[in-house]
Amino acid sequence: MVQHSHAVPPLTHLRTTMLELRDIHFAIQKDGEEVPLIEGASIQVPAGHFMAIVGPSGCGKSTLLKLIAGINVETKGHVLWNGRDLSTDGDLEPAEIGYVPQFSIAYEQLTVEESIESAVRLRVKTRGRAAFHELVDRVLEQTGLDPLRSRPVRVLSGGQRRRLALAMELVTEPVLLLADEVTSGLDPKSEQEIVKLLYELSRKQRRIVVNVTHSLANLELYDSVLVLHEGRVVYHGQPRALDHYFSVEEAEEIYPRLAKRPAEDWRTSWEKHRVDYYQAMLAAANDPAPAEAGARAGIEPATTTAATPGFVRQFFALFFRRCKIFARDGGQLFLQIAILLGFPALVILFALDGIDQTKRPSDSLPATLAELEAEKSVMEHNLNLGGLVSGLVMFQIILLTLMASNNAAREIAGERLIYEKEKLGGVRPTTYLLSKLAFLGLLVGIQSVWMAVFVQNICHIPTQSFGPQLTMLLLVNAAMTAICLGISSLARTADQASLLSIYLVGFQLPLSGAVLALPSIAGWITRPFISAYWSWAGIMNSLEGSYRTAVDSVTETYLAPVTVCYLVLLAHIGIGLFLAYVGVKKARWE
Ligand SMILES: Nc1ncnc2c1ncn2[C@@H]1O[C@H](COP(=O)(O)OP(=O)(O)OP(=O)(O)O)[C@@H](O)[C@H]1O
Ligand SMILES: [Mg+2]
Repeated sequence: MVQHSHAVPPLTHLRTTMLELRDIHFAIQKDGEEVPLIEGASIQVPAGHFMAIVGPSGCGKSTLLKLIAGINVETKGHVLWNGRDLSTDGDLEPAEIGYVPQFSIAYEQLTVEESIESAVRLRVKTRGRAAFHELVDRVLEQTGLDPLRSRPVRVLSGGQRRRLALAMELVTEPVLLLADEVTSGLDPKSEQEIVKLLYELSRKQRRIVVNVTHSLANLELYDSVLVLHEGRVVYHGQPRALDHYFSVEEAEEIYPRLAKRPAEDWRTSWEKHRVDYYQAMLAAANDPAPAEAGARAGIEPATTTAATPGFVRQFFALFFRRCKIFARDGGQLFLQIAILLGFPALVILFALDGIDQTKRPSDSLPATLAELEAEKSVMEHNLNLGGLVSGLVMFQIILLTLMASNNAAREIAGERLIYEKEKLGGVRPTTYLLSKLAFLGLLVGIQSVWMAVFVQNICHIPTQSFGPQLTMLLLVNAAMTAICLGISSLARTADQASLLSIYLVGFQLPLSGAVLALPSIAGWITRPFISAYWSWAGIMNSLEGSYRTAVDSVTETYLAPVTVCYLVLLAHIGIGLFLAYVGVKKARWE
């Protein structure tokens, strides 16, 4: 049995207490110190209840909502759902919770309808096309978005975006709908419309709807209002009793009034009065006002039948959505095509007429000055060819690593919050990662093959066979793409991921040893980390004999055997993928 200092009377006379917080505390670690954000929150919420969480900015409303959603994990206390302790008996099913965060969760490039379709594909098992379209239509209808169905998210107004965010949560018909500031920053009319919509949603399927807001307008529609002040619950009861409790004329005066006493005082005085206010609130829930009676009578039992779809469906939904967004993002698309065609074109400029034959030095010692001159020119010729071949290959490699960072640096970091949201909604991290690998694999394949084939056709790089050369180029692109994807999934922001990836690419050329040989020790220490070196060494090692000799005479850098080069590049890919996996498993809501 849980012991807590301020026991709340059991609500046995109520139909059921669906949601209960028991003495919830939440603290974060800041500079080694514990900073409490929520202190001793105890509330009870019956089924089919519409509740507001209000309080001044920074008082902990979003934090409390995330505790209910299971995104924040309480440091102390218990969250109960229908009598079940969520921390010990397992969380709610992803389909049971709808959480509308304070940030936008839709892709700008998709339309309203596509966004909802995507939510359905990722979150609901539907039987057949008809059921799928019926669900999409129903949600569009319910949220008033039907006339806007083909409009791109990019052009939606603030209010329309909030509606869309709500719609995307309604696809699973959640029994608990949590909305963070979906009414903020809207004009009074739009704000009222959304509150009305939330109210109606709470009248269906015994659904609990919790709306966080700092606005104190339109409170009459709520069944209860929770006032949060400096992380403490200082009131939770009917909206009509608010003014009386805080001894104010209008709700708007509550915040200034809160500031007049220490938060802890407010909390202790609420603990004293809670029982009476709760009884009034719960009696009203049992005995609805006449106007509500009809709606209440029609309350259907909770019907969460939505089950999270399997791997294949989620994978293809994510993969095709990624391709669609790519095709619609004009800037990205242009950049990708420009570098796909431009980079190989840049490489061939240095050997438009192909690569000359090496010349055989004479077997005998030069006897005359003329022979000496001839010998010198043969050596210079070969030296130049060695430099040219090595340079051309390294140039290909460096440009491919640059493409790799462009491919992957923002891939996860740039949509982190949307991903976290979808993960909460039931998207599995491995499925998400695999969909990224499929998409990036496509880019890597096209870029590397085109680079290798185009350059080879014009410059005829003298390798023994084309296969290993192509593989080395593919592997270096794949390795850098994987590592940048790892960075992307671990980074705090997309900008941070981009910057780190660019630095990584920047170090490839100087540390590869292809331009200047590094001092022996430095070379052995840095080389293991430099993908470009292994790809370059692999290709240099598979050059035709005389060219290989020519390269040896221009660089003192050790050339590792081809097999080792393959293995190291594969290891780089493995490390990148491992980092990416660690990153996508981790929760990162900030
Ligand atoms: N991860 C975190 N690290 C540090 N501080 C945090 C973290 N999360 C929340 N806070 C702090 O906790 C306090 C409460 O934050 P929260 O976002 O819950 O406030 P809020 O009531 O939702 O405010 P608003 O109305 O502005 O959205 C704020 O002072 C915030 O800076
Ligand atoms: Mg907030």
